[in-house]
Amino acid sequence: MSQQKVIFDTDPGVDDALALYYLLRHPGIDLLGVTTVFGNAPVEVTTRNAAWLLTQWDHEDVPVHAGASATMTPDMAEESFPTHIHGLNGVGDIPIDMAAGPVSETAARFIIDTVRAHPGEVRLLAVGRMTNLARALVLDPGIAPLVRDVVIMGGAFRVPGNITPAAEANIWGDALAADMVFGAEWPVVAIPLDLTTQTFMDAATLQDLARRGGAGMELVAELSQDYVGFYRGAGYDGMLVHDCCAAVYLTDPDLFDLTRGEVRVVDRGIAIGLTLCNPEDRQGPLADWEGRPRQSYAHDGDAPAILARIDQVCTAR
Ligand code: BDR
Ligand code: CA
Repeated sequence: MSQQKVIFDTDPGVDDALALYYLLRHPGIDLLGVTTVFGNAPVEVTTRNAAWLLTQWDHEDVPVHAGASATMTPDMAEESFPTHIHGLNGVGDIPIDMAAGPVSETAARFIIDTVRAHPGEVRLLAVGRMTNLARALVLDPGIAPLVRDVVIMGGAFRVPGNITPAAEANIWGDALAADMVFGAEWPVVAIPLDLTTQTFMDAATLQDLARRGGAGMELVAELSQDYVGFYRGAGYDGMLVHDCCAAVYLTDPDLFDLTRGEVRVVDRGIAIGLTLCNPEDRQGPLADWEGRPRQSYAHDGDAPAILARIDQVCTAR
């Protein structure tokens, strides 16, 4: 099987960790590197988490490049990290025997160099804020047509947001960067809340995966316990696997139902982070849509089959 070349841009993050494990386990994926961004925790912490998880899963060979520590969007409200969901350390407060130290920002440069080394081949899977991708575009706009595609976990097109009534967290966290990513001349497929809120892994299934999947999957289950506790507080017994759902798109695109159209992101005001799609090519007086490429988002999909795929890949011996 020829392998797909993937760069994983992430803010681990509990569901990020499951997505990373899926990518490492899938025989069809050649993980060229991990780039990190602030989001679920500060970038020093998400970078440490990525490096530590790779070590736990015997993949120190995968390079980790630290990325953005701040949003590109002007005038964003002061924010705090979602410690009530992902824990103080970003991965459910499990003990980690690796310190988080200062990092220098090399993510955007790594993305550019890797894309230019493999023109037409690299798939960018981004499951945090879009800041690193947007910075790569600013530094080298010529990379866009050289990227095979960009798959993101983000957006809420026909459903409410999860951080404001309008916005999903990754898009809200850098709305300007997300608008740049949707506006570039590379194919983008967004896996938004419209679908990921259907990919609910119940707590018993998670424990069963840990039992059948060995030490690697046991670690995923362990670091997910607080995240499951967060959902329990909201009346659910399990967790949403947002980021891993986007990872499954790389390997099993037939499980996803896509809508195509130009996409814009509201980058200010009360609806900041709102994702809008123009599937009918409505133009009229709407100059804001002119010249935008048509992109895709998953309005629906086969959620049970996506969950079954995660089960199969993460427990295969
Ligand atoms: C997204 O927000 C983050 O907290 C998760 O890791 C996921 O990428 C879901 O809105
Ligand atoms: Ca994430």
